[in-house]
Amino acid sequence: MSKHATQTMPNPTIESPADHLLDVDDLSDDELAEVVSTAEELKQAHHEGEPHAVLPNQSLAMLFEKPSTRTRVSFETGMTQLGGHAVYLGPDTTHLDHGEPVADTARALSRYVDAVMARVFDHDALESMAAHASVPVVNGLSDDAHPCQTLADLLTIYEEFGGFEDVSVAWVGDGNNVAQSFAIGAAMAGLDLTMATPEGYEPDESVLARAAERGSAPEVGHDPEAAVEDADVVYTDVWVSMGQEDEREAKLGDFDGFQVNDELLSAAPDADVMHCLPAHRGEEITGEVLESDRALVWQQAENRMHTQKALLTHLLG
Ligand code: CP
Ligand code: NVA
Repeated sequence: MSKHATQTMPNPTIESPADHLLDVDDLSDDELAEVVSTAEELKQAHHEGEPHAVLPNQSLAMLFEKPSTRTRVSFETGMTQLGGHAVYLGPDTTHLDHGEPVADTARALSRYVDAVMARVFDHDALESMAAHASVPVVNGLSDDAHPCQTLADLLTIYEEFGGFEDVSVAWVGDGNNVAQSFAIGAAMAGLDLTMATPEGYEPDESVLARAAERGSAPEVGHDPEAAVEDADVVYTDVWVSMGQEDEREAKLGDFDGFQVNDELLSAAPDADVMHCLPAHRGEEITGEVLESDRALVWQQAENRMHTQKALLTHLLG
C-alpha cells in the first residue's frame, strides 16, 4: 500500500473527540442517574447469568502506577463480561517508568484500544493523558479523586435506601481522594453529607466549590460524634493513602479520635457503614465494625464492577 493511501485511510477512532471521566462531575446529573440505573440492570443480568456482551471486540488499557485489587479485577472481568478485553499495564511495565512522556503513551495507546483506565499519583498526569488521548480516559484513582469508587458507592446507597432523597451520610476521617469524589457525587445525587476530618485534612476548597456548583457543599467540621449523630450511613477510608507512607507516624497521631468503632456508632445506632477498602483494621475502623452486619463493604466492592461496566457502555456503547 502506498504511503499516501495509508495516510488517508479513515480512522474514526482518532477523529472523534472523546468523553473522559477524570472525576464524577464530568458526568451530568442525568448521565450519573443513567449509569446507576444501567448498573442495576447489568447487575441483575450478571446474577441471572444472562449474557450481555454489548462491547464485542472492544479493548481497555489499564495503566497502574499504584497497587490495586478491586479496580484492576473489576475492570478486567467487567470488560470480559461485556464481550471485550482488558490489557493490564502495571507499575514498571511500560516506558512511562523509563521516561516516555504521558502524552506519547496516550497517543500510542489510543491507536490500539477503545478506552484507557489509569491509576496515577499526580492528577495532572490524567489531565495530560486526556488531553492527548483520542479515546476515553477513566480515572481509576489519583491522589485527588476516585470517581469509579463514588459510582459504586452511589449504587450501594441507592440499593439500600431505594433512592438518595433524605439519606444522610457522615464521612469520618481524611478528606482524601475517595472523600473528594464522594462529596461531589453526593451533591449530584442529592445526598445530605456531613464530613468530620482532623484540622488540616479537609477536602480541598476547590472540591467543595465544585460540590456546591452541583447541588450543595457538605458541611465540614472536626467533631466525629456530631457528624455521625443520627446518620443513615457512616463512611470512612484509610488514614494513610497510597503514596503517603512517609507521613504515616504523623497522620496516626493527627487522626486520633476519628476511628469508626462501636463507641462512635452509638450516636448512630441504625447506621450502615461504608469503606472503599482496603481497610486497616484497628486504625480508621475496628475489625468488629467491619465484620458486623451493618458494613456494606462487600456490596460496595461488588458494585465497582457493575457501575464500571455501566460507565464503559455509556462511554463506548
Ligand atoms: N477501592 C479500591 O479502589 O480498591 P483497590 O485499591 O483494591 O483497587
Ligand atoms: N485513599 C486510598 C484509597 C484506596 C482505594 C488511597 O488512595 O490509597
